[in-house]
Order: sequence, then structure tokens, then C-alpha cells
Amino acid sequence: MKLLVTYFFAALLSATALSSHAAAPAAPAAPAKVVKPDLVAGEAKFTAACAACHGADGNSGTPVNPKLAQQHPEYLVKQLQEFKAGIRKNAVMQGFASQLSDADMKNIAFWAASKKIKPGFANDKELVAWVSAFTVAAWPTGKSPPALAATAPMVRATRCNTLA
Ligand code: HEC
Repeated sequence: MKLLVTYFFAALLSATALSSHAAAPAAPAAPAKVVKPDLVAGEAKFTAACAACHGADGNSGTPVNPKLAQQHPEYLVKQLQEFKAGIRKNAVMQGFASQLSDADMKNIAFWAASKKIKPGFANDKELVAWVSAFTVAAWPTGKSPPALAATAPMVRATRCNTLA
């Protein structure tokens, strides 16, 4: 009898477990944890490793080094990942990007994006005309649409010779 009672409760328990399992809605996939970029850490890292070429506030004064200020952060992160992986080939940048973790990239990118671009000027009239025509044709404000942020840089935040 004792055994029967035990079986009965065991059956009851598993039935309850089953039904409660069946009734429970499928647990939604946990949303990917969005980690906020740490701008202070981004600035510190940038100042130490990148400012010499890209300018103290991301406004490089040297034509060969692109300006990073006010650029889409998604685009900057993508470039850094691609330099690191050797997909975008540049020996200098591969070296620097390889030393960055994903968090570093994000912190630096969002910090640089938060800096105001200082417009430069180009001496080559033909190039200026070409870039202006391209910019107007592509996106009139010089700002690429947010949906394209990772792949399409803002033209006005890019140096002419990087485009050429
Ligand atoms: C010795 C100079 C130098 C240093 C230091 C340097 N860079 Fe660069 N960076 C360059 C050059 C040159 C390019 C252009 C490469 C090319 O033509 O593909 C570039 C390109 C980039 C780009 C792509 C920009 C674009 O508009 O596509 C990003 C992002 C970038 N660098 C971030 C960084 C970060 C972050 C650091 C520091 C960890 C850093 N760089 C350090 C010289 C440098």
C-alpha cells in the first residue's frame, strides 16, 4: 500500500510537472546584453594609442590619416574589426587594431563619434567637385542613412584622399 501511495504521488507530481511545463510559454530568448560604451575609457585609449595620427579629438590634421570625429560609430567598429582580421588591409592599422578588444573598439568608436568634425579643405578643385557631386548624389546632407551606418561612412567625415 505504501508503495502504491508513493507511485500515486510520483505520478501526480510528474503529471503536474508535465502540465505546468506544457502551460508555460516558451521562454523568450534572452536579449543580447547591450553594454553601453564607456566614453571615458575610449578617450583614454584613443589618447594613448591613436591620437598621434588621428588628432587629439579625432580630427586628424594629416591628409593620410582619416578623420574619425563625428563618424558613424558602427562604421568605425566595423573598420577596426576588419583591420584586425586583415579583411581591410593596412599594415599600420592592423597592428593597432589587433591590440584592441571588442569593448575597446566600441568605446573608442562612440567617443570619436561624439566629437565634432572640424571641416577641412582640399586644394584639388577637381577632387572637391567630384566629392561634392558624389555626396549630393549619395546623401544630400553628407550623412549616410542610419540603416547603412556600419557600411557607409559619412563622406564629410572622411578625408578626400581616403576616398580617392
Ligand atoms: C601611425 C599612424 C596611425 C595610428 C597610431 C593609428 N592609425 Fe588609424 N589609420 C591610420 C591610417 C594611415 C589609416 C588609413 C588606412 C587605409 O588607408 O586603409 C587609418 C584608418 C583608421 C580607421 C578607418 C577610418 C575610415 O574612415 O575608414 C579607423 C577607424 C582607425 N584608423 C582607428 C584607429 C584607432 C582606434 C587607433 C588607435 C588604437 C589608430 N587608428 C591608430 C593611421 C594610424
